[in-house]
Amino acid sequence: MSDTPRSLVTGAAGFIGSHLCERLLHEGHEVVGLDGFIDFYPRFRKEANLASLRSHPMFRFVEADLLRADLDSFLDGIDFIFHQAGQPGVRGSWGKRFEEYLRNNILATQRILEAAKGHLGTVRRVVYASSSSVYGAVPTLPLVEEAVPRPFSPYGVTKLAGEQLCLLYHLNYGLPVVALRYFTVYGPRQRPDMAFQRFIQSILSGEEVVIYGDGEQTRDFTYVSDGVEANLLALKPEAEGRTFNIGGGARITINDVVSLLQRLIGQEVRHRHILSQEGDVRHTFADVTLAGRVLGYRPRVTLQEGLARQIDWVRASASA
Ligand code: NAD
Ligand code: UGA
Repeated sequence: MSDTPRSLVTGAAGFIGSHLCERLLHEGHEVVGLDGFIDFYPRFRKEANLASLRSHPMFRFVEADLLRADLDSFLDGIDFIFHQAGQPGVRGSWGKRFEEYLRNNILATQRILEAAKGHLGTVRRVVYASSSSVYGAVPTLPLVEEAVPRPFSPYGVTKLAGEQLCLLYHLNYGLPVVALRYFTVYGPRQRPDMAFQRFIQSILSGEEVVIYGDGEQTRDFTYVSDGVEANLLALKPEAEGRTFNIGGGARITINDVVSLLQRLIGQEVRHRHILSQEGDVRHTFADVTLAGRVLGYRPRVTLQEGLARQIDWVRASASA
């Protein structure tokens, strides 16, 4: 028997999943990366995320939709499942698109859990990518894990349902799950629908930055390597069956983010405000005390450093 840990990462071609695969390979894992290239944003971006992974001798990529694939066959010999696949995006989860959220966040999660249940003796951990959006309209900041969730968007409802499914497979079958509630993750490869990516692209191409509402809403932004680190820490035995906030350690208004970008890019920023968007919560701010105590989680990358890295990446991708 090999001592090499074997991991399955779902959503491996996505923003967070691709960074996680790289880190696991760096830690000596053998990694199976699975992704179905859902069309939320263009495939060429996801292929670029995968580019360096594909040539790694310990990495195998599987193109498959979690809703249709024979998941059993992928779980043979797998120690750790990092379930990052999902339909993200808060503001697009209304109307007809809700079906995609149901399929890729709830049904896909249920299929992974059922398959993992069939491998109870060998799967040692299932880490679920949950979201700060499960809190929604919880009024008391910072947000603590015991708060009663009050999702404010259809997306938040589906992420909460996925999380609850994970916990009930733990309670009923002893499946060793951990849920990580990520707070707005950013950094190189960030999805093109997200604020920082849109703002940086607009500034570099001399276009106006569009701010939703008055811009005084705040977010706790988490640099992607901190989110990835949390996944590795979630393998600790004491994490089993628990849910943790994974945040960046501070919050900032969107107006202040725009001013910071202006300083970092060194270019005058034109901006305009449009109506606030349905589903967007006013504030997020993670209490990471529990993750600190149980996992040893500490966010390491400041917003200034992280944004500078994302700007460098956007510039490098534009000139590639
Ligand atoms: P992403 O869209 O870049 O990555 C998700 C990947 O999952 C995509 O490549 C997509 O093709 C794949 N996928 C979706 N449904 C699938 C299916 N049925 N079968 C196979 N592959 C499928 O998104 P991301 O920003 O990297 O987010 C990753 C996870 O983290 C998601 O579950 C998201 O809900 C959660 N999350 C993200 C953030 C954030 O700020 N980025 C915050 C909280 C939670
Ligand atoms: C992000 C992710 O997109 C979700 O998938 C994730 O689940 C969620 O974080 C989370 O933490 O759970 P969001 O906080 O909306 O959602 O992230 P951004 O798209 O980066 O938006 C941040 C803020 O900027 C929001 O207040 C939004 O209204 C604002 N924004 C966004 C703008 O003002 N203009 C834009 O063009 C885009």
